[in-house]
Amino acid sequence: MSTQLRVIQWATGITGKASLKSILRNPRLELVGVKVYADEKNGCDAGELLSQEPTGVICTQDKKEVIELEADCVIYSPMPWDVEEMCEILASGKHIVTPCPYWFPFTQDKESAERLTEACESGGVNLHASGINPGGIAEMLPLTLTGLCNRIDRITMTEYGDCRDYGSEGVIRDLMNLGRTPEEAENNPVKDMLTSFWNEPIDMIAEGLRSEVVHYSSEHNYILANQSIETASGTIAKGTIALNNYRHIGKTKEGTEIIQEQIWFMDDITQDRLESKMEIPQDSGWRIRIEGDVNLVVDVRLDAPSQPERTQMGISLTGFHCANAVEATCKAKPNGIKTFLDLPLIAGTMGSYSIFD
Ligand SMILES: NC(=O)c1ccc[n+]([C@@H]2O[C@H](COP(=O)([O-])OP(=O)(O)OC[C@H]3O[C@@H](n4cnc5c(N)ncnc54)[C@H](OP(=O)(O)O)[C@@H]3O)[C@@H](O)[C@H]2O)c1
Repeated sequence: MSTQLRVIQWATGITGKASLKSILRNPRLELVGVKVYADEKNGCDAGELLSQEPTGVICTQDKKEVIELEADCVIYSPMPWDVEEMCEILASGKHIVTPCPYWFPFTQDKESAERLTEACESGGVNLHASGINPGGIAEMLPLTLTGLCNRIDRITMTEYGDCRDYGSEGVIRDLMNLGRTPEEAENNPVKDMLTSFWNEPIDMIAEGLRSEVVHYSSEHNYILANQSIETASGTIAKGTIALNNYRHIGKTKEGTEIIQEQIWFMDDITQDRLESKMEIPQDSGWRIRIEGDVNLVVDVRLDAPSQPERTQMGISLTGFHCANAVEATCKAKPNGIKTFLDLPLIAGTMGSYSIFD
């Protein structure tokens, strides 16, 4: 009998395609379905989306057909996501791993946490929200590093991203507010929801430290484009936001600060096309800084010759990490929302794969 876990890839945008590639490579996973939205992908073989050999799995826009498939897990990667839909998938008896919310919703969004938990219980399954930021680099890595430390005064996770080659308009404009006017960013209908999303990793880190956050604050600084800038997600018009610096800060009851910082920009690191400049040490990647009686700085860099390749690698990490989390998510007990605090170490999988294949 096959011991493979049967997986559905739900949406095949930039991160969804990375997950799809990872499912197809992983001998412990079997692709059994692909849900797509785009008309031109409907009816295509999944392999075709990746310019690979045919897989025999045909992509479909038909949600009902996908929900009715026999499968263990769905990697759910749409934009936008839908909590109702997530509940429907869970209640149908399929685990979900997703780069979308909800990473640690128990404090910021109790209502969604309860609905998702009920759906998990009714389907006898789990939900694990992962990715990179939030996800593996925003929470799991800082928490892992705290295990090397003693007194901890401040934990800062900073993401640096030259986002010109990130081709998702939905993520770049609706979530990151790049290419928007400051007024549009301020009045973004999802502003409060975004704040709660950046607070979720903060809450998870605090919980991991056996503490809790007693005060939240945030700062938003931005720099406008001094000329129009062409990017994979469209033109960034002169006078709109071309660099966003968000800082979300949680203070624990012991006074430790946990900071999630994003520096996203639409220029190269010289920032010549911006109205002013900010000190940015790397064009893509992350810095984790822990301050206390030991000061630790860990830089995560993407080693590739060009910025488009670094962007592609950075986004791929999100999709790969989701696929790597499928086994742990499917095995976890009791059923419910499973965060990094509930799951064992999520490592890559070699299986029968050989780099010489
Ligand atoms: N946690 C993290 O680290 C992290 C990092 C990056 C992204 N994300 C999240 O991952 C998700 C996917 O991001 P991405 O970069 O892959 O975005 P993307 O390239 O824009 O892909 C989104 C996909 O959603 C599908 N879609 C189209 N219209 C839709 C609709 N009306 N409702 C629902 N889905 C629709 C499409 O799938 P088809 O192409 O198959 O038709 C599209 O390609 C987003 O929700 C984003 O917030 C998380």
